[in-house]
Amino acid sequence: MKELSGKVAVVTGGASGIGRAMARRLGAEGMKVVVSDVEPGSLQETVKDLEARGVEAQGVVADVSQADAVHRLADRTVDAFGGVHVVCNNAGVFAGGLSWEASVSDYEWVLGVNTWGVIHGIRSFVPILLAQGEPGHIVNTASMAALTSGPLSGAYFMSKHAVLALSESLYHELHMKQAPIGVSVVCPELIATRIGEADRNRPAHLKRGSDDELPPETRTVEAAIRTATQGGADPGVIADRMLEAIVEDRFYVLAPEGDPWRDACHARLEDVRAARNPRLSVPG
Ligand SMILES: NC(=O)c1ccc[n+]([C@@H]2O[C@H](COP(=O)([O-])OP(=O)(O)OC[C@H]3O[C@@H](n4cnc5c(N)ncnc54)[C@H](O)[C@@H]3O)[C@@H](O)[C@H]2O)c1
Repeated sequence: MKELSGKVAVVTGGASGIGRAMARRLGAEGMKVVVSDVEPGSLQETVKDLEARGVEAQGVVADVSQADAVHRLADRTVDAFGGVHVVCNNAGVFAGGLSWEASVSDYEWVLGVNTWGVIHGIRSFVPILLAQGEPGHIVNTASMAALTSGPLSGAYFMSKHAVLALSESLYHELHMKQAPIGVSVVCPELIATRIGEADRNRPAHLKRGSDDELPPETRTVEAAIRTATQGGADPGVIADRMLEAIVEDRFYVLAPEGDPWRDACHARLEDVRAARNPRLSVPG
């Protein structure tokens, strides 16, 4: 998709971190932007920030794990701006722990936001893009976790592998239909965002007890994610990569060669190719 100016973008999880950087980047290209999130306060701040940068923006509170909410987001976007061209299915959360100790609520929450959020985004927005018949682009935020594996984050790894697989299917299907709609899957390395504090947005029915009741591995890995992401790259780096991918119609948006997460991705692919047992190659 080459022409972005005057077109319409929607970004889920847009009130913080990578999503906010995406919204700013797309706005800087002259796009009208619908920012969506579950956190009303930071959503309002983000809309103000975009408007201060001269971007025509609207905020819509929506929980991406809920099909109806994403459907309403699509309706609100079209009502506000008359169409939609770039859809960033970006909202995501993290919970860690041993696979057999992570609670059913942890699995439901992580898969609900990270995987079902993308499913709902595709089901609600792709039919609108197809009906419009204009150039468009779907951007799904996965992670380098989609191309690697490691201990203590099973729900997160599987949620992102699923996003990668679904994005590849979508890419093939849109080609089959000869639709003018590109697909990119964004796979960030460690980025300085608030994902280490993702618990702030857990819905009441999936809440955990107190921290003291958590298994030690859960506490350790979640503390490690908080520290590691704080030292990560600026979210703007990912927004720039995303923009390039939209304009150049590139599917895989990966950490650069030389990044330890890219090395881990190569190591995993080599193990699969040789049918070797998985080595532990993810950083940390
Ligand atoms: N930060 C990293 O190191 C990193 C690395 C790889 C991938 N990612 C992915 O990037 C995406 C953005 O995360 P981030 O790092 O910017 O974290 P972040 O916490 O700063 O931003 C995530 C946003 O998603 C929102 N959100 C949470 N639950 C939601 C829900 N149910 N519905 C709608 N919005 C919801 C949050 O309120 C927040 O504004 C996620 O998909 C994450 O998995 C992040």
